[in-house]
Amino acid sequence: MRFRSAMVKGKRARLETVKTTTPTRKRLKAAVKEEDSTNPPLSSSYHTFSGPADVLQLRSQLLSWYDKEKRELPWRTLAMTELDLNIRTYGVWVSEIMLQQTQVATVIDYYNKWMKRWPTVQQLAAATLEDVNQMWAGLGYYSRGRRLHEGAQKVVSELKGQMPRTVDNLLKHLPGVGRYTAAAVGSIALGQVTGAVDGNVIRVLCRLRAIGADSTSTAVTEALWNLANMLVDPVRPGDFNQAMMELGARVCTPKGPLCSQCPVQSHCRSYQKVHVKQEQNSKKLLGKLDTKTSDPPDIEECLNSGTCLLCPSEPWDNELGVQNFPRKPAKKAPRVERTLTCVLTRAGEEGDDEYLLTQRPNKGLLAGLWEFPSVLLQEEKSEVKQKKALCEEISRVLGTCFNESLLQYVGEVVHIFSHIHQTYVVYSVCLKESDMKTQTENTQWLTRSALQEAAVSTGLKKIVKLFNSVTSQKEKNSQDGKKQNHPGVKSEKKLLTSRKTRMSAANGGSRQLSLSSFFKTVKEECG
Ligand code: ADE
Repeated sequence: MRFRSAMVKGKRARLETVKTTTPTRKRLKAAVKEEDSTNPPLSSSYHTFSGPADVLQLRSQLLSWYDKEKRELPWRTLAMTELDLNIRTYGVWVSEIMLQQTQVATVIDYYNKWMKRWPTVQQLAAATLEDVNQMWAGLGYYSRGRRLHEGAQKVVSELKGQMPRTVDNLLKHLPGVGRYTAAAVGSIALGQVTGAVDGNVIRVLCRLRAIGADSTSTAVTEALWNLANMLVDPVRPGDFNQAMMELGARVCTPKGPLCSQCPVQSHCRSYQKVHVKQEQNSKKLLGKLDTKTSDPPDIEECLNSGTCLLCPSEPWDNELGVQNFPRKPAKKAPRVERTLTCVLTRAGEEGDDEYLLTQRPNKGLLAGLWEFPSVLLQEEKSEVKQKKALCEEISRVLGTCFNESLLQYVGEVVHIFSHIHQTYVVYSVCLKESDMKTQTENTQWLTRSALQEAAVSTGLKKIVKLFNSVTSQKEKNSQDGKKQNHPGVKSEKKLLTSRKTRMSAANGGSRQLSLSSFFKTVKEECG
């Protein structure tokens, strides 16, 4: 393995990188000063760093900790070992897109599989969107995969296969790449000297500099980017940014932060504040403070706290300690939705059951993914009308009329999207039909194992899980029932009958009903 240790040592001149200087200590100090002077002043020096010495010390403490403690992650290994700049940029881009809104532990497997299948931007560009969706299945926020694919095609068709080489060009050319992602890819893959502010970094910086105003406000956002740009190490910008993220993920955590293990504790204004407050409180308890007068000012605090755009607007909460920072506005309550959905199965040619799936539209939530025929419940409509609507949808998908009496209630599945609290009301129908050849562009029959591999959402997998567990429970009950008749069978409405019984019920006998013969009997009803 050829390591990019040269980069780490600052000998970047022979590598294909953007900046090729060998920084000296003098230049590092200059870098701190220069950045200081180009950034607009923060509202109080309390929320920034007073001088280059502090900044240099923080960089060095953080990077030493990172060198000892960092997790070996596949994209980090790639960024350190891959000499081909195009592959390095592509690989880091993929990792950063996957890491948006998804935990590191979940991403690792997806990342390794992705890079094995499409090791270059050219190979990704040549893939189909269906393959990309399939690879992304289960990772959530599906537009991310689509944008990676779209971006790869753009790089091949418009940029001669060359990944953009600067933060500005990453931002300009790649769909789905915003300020943070461009900065992360630029610093990690290309050595560009820029800070990168993601959720973890917001928390670390807000705590370090006691920034307690709404962390989504423009003033705080700009202050955080200025701080990040001032702090970033000019020799190891990618490592510095990843060290900040690592610190946020493992030490400066949202709940239960491990301050005693923090390499930059001595720079942390919130940590200092916790101790000042504790001292004040114990003095009060011991009666050493005159309770008539208010608390003395903290040893160090923001001089403009009344008007400062970065100071908290809410009072300090002793219980929270450093978790007083950051402050986010209350989350909007998620939209509540109910969707009727139907697991339609048939006996496949190979003897395996097959499931009918339809493809969602190319835009919007879960775009292009496969799902069971479904209708969104409309509040104003009755359950009866809604079931009718589900039958109409099934009829549309099957291309033939479908009768409501076949629907068997299975149960409910809750799935939480970022902004929607979704409840799937699940029905099932088992068709014997093997001559049912419905296979248009947007529908397909899939075996259970094919379904596991298909481009489907986690919500759909939960529905399948419920369907399987209810079905096997019913089969077991029915077998037990044959041996001995148990009293206390659950309500018909709540439970699905066994697969055979379900068909029998619809058919009024023990024989499974073929779909075509069933349709003959119900066609008129659908008009
Ligand atoms: N989150 C976003 N980018 C990351 C990275 N490179 N390493 C770990 N966590 C991250």
